[in-house]
Amino acid sequence: MLVFTTVAALRCYLRIGQLGGDRIERGVGLVPTMGALHAGHLTLIERARQQNAVVIVSIFVNPLQFGPTEDFQKYPRQLEPDRQLCEEAGVDAIFVPTAEEMGLGKKEKSKVKSQKSKERKFSLLRVPSQQSPVPTQVVPPESMTSVLCGRSRIGHFQGVATIVTKLLNLVQPTRAYFGQKDAQQLAIIRRLVADLNLSVEIVACPTVRESSGLALSSRNRYLTEREKEEASVLYRSLRQAERAFLTGERSSDELIAVTKLELARVPAIEPEYVELVDPTTLIPLDKIEEVGLLAIAARLGSTRLIDNILLRNRQPIVAIDGPAGAGKSTVARQVAQALGLLYLDTGAMYRSVTWLVLQSDIPIEDEPSIAEMVCKCEIELRMSDEPQAPVRVFLNSQEVTQAIRSLEVTSHVSAIAAQPAVRRQLVKQQQLWGEKGGIVVEGRDIGTHVFPDAELKIFLTASVQERAKRRQQELKSQGEADLSLEQMEQNLVLRDWKDSNRDVAPLQKAPDSIEILTDGLSVAEVTARIVSLYREKVDGH
Ligand code: PAF
Repeated sequence: MLVFTTVAALRCYLRIGQLGGDRIERGVGLVPTMGALHAGHLTLIERARQQNAVVIVSIFVNPLQFGPTEDFQKYPRQLEPDRQLCEEAGVDAIFVPTAEEMGLGKKEKSKVKSQKSKERKFSLLRVPSQQSPVPTQVVPPESMTSVLCGRSRIGHFQGVATIVTKLLNLVQPTRAYFGQKDAQQLAIIRRLVADLNLSVEIVACPTVRESSGLALSSRNRYLTEREKEEASVLYRSLRQAERAFLTGERSSDELIAVTKLELARVPAIEPEYVELVDPTTLIPLDKIEEVGLLAIAARLGSTRLIDNILLRNRQPIVAIDGPAGAGKSTVARQVAQALGLLYLDTGAMYRSVTWLVLQSDIPIEDEPSIAEMVCKCEIELRMSDEPQAPVRVFLNSQEVTQAIRSLEVTSHVSAIAAQPAVRRQLVKQQQLWGEKGGIVVEGRDIGTHVFPDAELKIFLTASVQERAKRRQQELKSQGEADLSLEQMEQNLVLRDWKDSNRDVAPLQKAPDSIEILTDGLSVAEVTARIVSLYREKVDGH
């Protein structure tokens, strides 16, 4: 892993051919951070690793985003552990500039340092003068900075927008990764990218939590164990509101009241705000029509905590991921049936495309033409009247439920499914289904990539021994050649490794997923477990 401390060296690295053509094909992922990395940052890095050829992590405690009474001096700085974490996570390069390198000026930096004794001086960072030139700053729309955290953190989002713009300009990444936990920051950055026509995809990653529900944050290290326990009430209160929402409550006043009631159970928590806003514009909502962002900021001693939850007025999505042979598709079908949801058979979608390619003159390896064709075709999945029967598949209005199961399709489908451009198009179509919700989807990257905001995420797994046994029984029942259990196990270990390390849609466990080890459990037992998790989590009972 490379470590860059200067803009010139980073630019040189990004420019020179050492990144190769792969960079153009799969891109560069940037994970901007202020260091003090934790498991939340690692999920951003992991996601970036999956989607890009090159991953760059910036570590910079940005003075522009700290107010005069905030914790700039105290903010945890731990370069060596951060460097090691990045190295272990497979990051290609870290960028650790000084304030001067970031164009914030040496003078300003030293003034920031002395802010404790002379707080007023910090404001020089924001007030330009000829003697002490202040960098041009990016000012987000007032409507987005005057709500939520912007009310008490004057200038914070301007500081964030400025540094993020600088980083995006320097690195020019294909994608940049931000946590959903900082929902206001995320909305402002999305808006910034749109308004300034920046050519980068902003990827939002779900909040990672401790088992108590406490959202991970670098600032959690200010908390004692007892305070951490107390702080978990933030998520509990959001979940209370979510339960009310799932049972039909849509009014902002009511949802906020439910949240506050739960927060009040921990007297040490001093709420700063509980607000319900539109997650894109951050405009306060009276009631939820489509989606609302319910956000909290609270103080616990001298530590300021934030958390939020998205409340979507759509039917829930159940995402089931896991390794080969864990029984995902059988279980997903049965869960969908038990809950009256549609089983979004992504395998059938890839089969449909393969069938269409075989009907056309397009060669199987002509990825761009196939992707273009997918873009134009309409695949529709309908629940069959027969509960046990497979989902009915319509391609451009023609029923292909049987046709896509032919041997010819079976022998070509994996070649088509491995084409990144085809996957991208089909993922878009799957996400369109997701807008309506009410689906159960299984795969390898459903909870991490296709539906990172699924209401219920399951990671279905089983030991290699168990999966080998099941596979052997399955082959026997089909009268196929018998491999030894040992051979089966070796094949599965290899397959798991390939699935987790492949470039296209690698197998990944979402940090907010619930793992179910299916060893010794029947399909009916696993299904019942997921159905009960769904009722508990989604229906609230
Ligand atoms: O979220 C953070 O850590 C910071 O606000 C960011 C995006 C790295 C900008 O300094």
